[in-house]
Amino acid sequence: MKKIKTVADMRKELKQRKGIVGYVATMGFLHKGHLSLVERARQETDTVVMSIFVNPLQFGPNEDFDRYPRDLERDAQLAEQAGVDILFHPDVKEMYPDTPLTTVNVSQITERLCGVARPGHFTGVATVISKFFHIIQPDRAYFGLKDAQQVAVIEQMVRELHFPVTIVPCPIVREEDGLAMSSRNVYLSAEERKQALVLNQALKEAQELIDKGELLKADDLISYITWRIKSQPLAKIDYVETLSYPKLEPIERVDKQPSIVAIAAYFGKTRLIDNFLYLGKE
Ligand code: PAJ
Repeated sequence: MKKIKTVADMRKELKQRKGIVGYVATMGFLHKGHLSLVERARQETDTVVMSIFVNPLQFGPNEDFDRYPRDLERDAQLAEQAGVDILFHPDVKEMYPDTPLTTVNVSQITERLCGVARPGHFTGVATVISKFFHIIQPDRAYFGLKDAQQVAVIEQMVRELHFPVTIVPCPIVREEDGLAMSSRNVYLSAEERKQALVLNQALKEAQELIDKGELLKADDLISYITWRIKSQPLAKIDYVETLSYPKLEPIERVDKQPSIVAIAAYFGKTRLIDNFLYLGKE
């Protein structure tokens, strides 16, 4: 595995490679969720590029940019074992030599769910991903549906700005007990970690009820999930919403169009998200 830190070296390296380039964007502190994207990319492409970059532009002033977990050495080992060919890990000065005057803003889709509590977050994501797409020029880019809104935002950006890349959405990878894997899970105390299981449990129950043809109305779904999460005293709900997917528009029922059921909740200071997509009966 090659480790590269500069845009110039990245461009040089990619010029020498032939075949299909797959790309996995991350902020590091890798877990099996990240590695599942690499696995998929390995199957479908000739060269797998991973970026590790904790992107300051997507963190709000009171968010965890400084304390976001970092361990490049461990990440490099995991990336290599998983089959990454090129690890691109630029520093902040390389990606943002000056305060950026050019940003990429996707409207509407970014104004709901996580966009409400995290103003500017998705502009930071869209901007950094468009920079990485320009530098790496991948044929296929792999993103996890753990961040389903992020997938919707990037797909919209790619369509509208004519990026010649196929976005491949990949399923959520969970711990054995159901908690969605996240680099932020390390912040949780043992008790918070235990209570955080309610997110997946509430979603699973809701999904089962939907599959039985019950709980199809958006309002009922939201009430049910809210009630389940509130059974855990350490949980503080940010949002429970059901919207159309990928446009994220208000809906009355989940069975009339592809829909997302999404949650964000705090356990202590840690904000966790989880969701499922309801794409109709198979
Ligand atoms: P990060 O949180 O490191 O996630 C990198 C990629 O891994 C994203 O596509 C995310 O959806 C995926 N991922 C994370 N946890 C997952 C899980 N449990 N199952 C499946 N996929 C999972 O998302 C970001 O970084 C950043 O916003 C980034 C896109 C890199 C831009 O800075």
